[in-house]
Amino acid sequence: MALLTWSDKFSVQVKQFDDEHKKLIDIVNRLHDAMKVGKGKDVLAEVLKSLISYTQNHFAAEEKLMKAKNYPGYEEHKKEHNQLVMQVLDVQKQMQSGVVLSQAVMSFLKNWLETHIQGTDKKYGPCLNQ
Ligand code: FEO
Repeated sequence: MALLTWSDKFSVQVKQFDDEHKKLIDIVNRLHDAMKVGKGKDVLAEVLKSLISYTQNHFAAEEKLMKAKNYPGYEEHKKEHNQLVMQVLDVQKQMQSGVVLSQAVMSFLKNWLETHIQGTDKKYGPCLNQ
């Protein structure tokens, strides 16, 4: 069973970002599946690398549009993005030093995505659609 499943409750009413969130969820699920079946650290490192890279591009796209639309919640939103990137880079560093990817990390990613998309991201919908 997938760790996360996209449904309308995740919609932020901006098609580009809904599509990107679907892709993010897909990568997190791939990472979770790889961990569960005990894939080697090279595979896990590769999936984690694509998660980091896709996340950074997605955050940059949201930030660019929020800025262009003078979204008032921009600074707070960006702060959450920066924090997550730092945390995921830290996970990457730990894995590189031999720490095994854990269910706790997967739960953290799942909770972060759910909370961020349904809370923080959803708030920009009305402004970004203007
Ligand atoms: Fe969709 Fe703010 O990340």
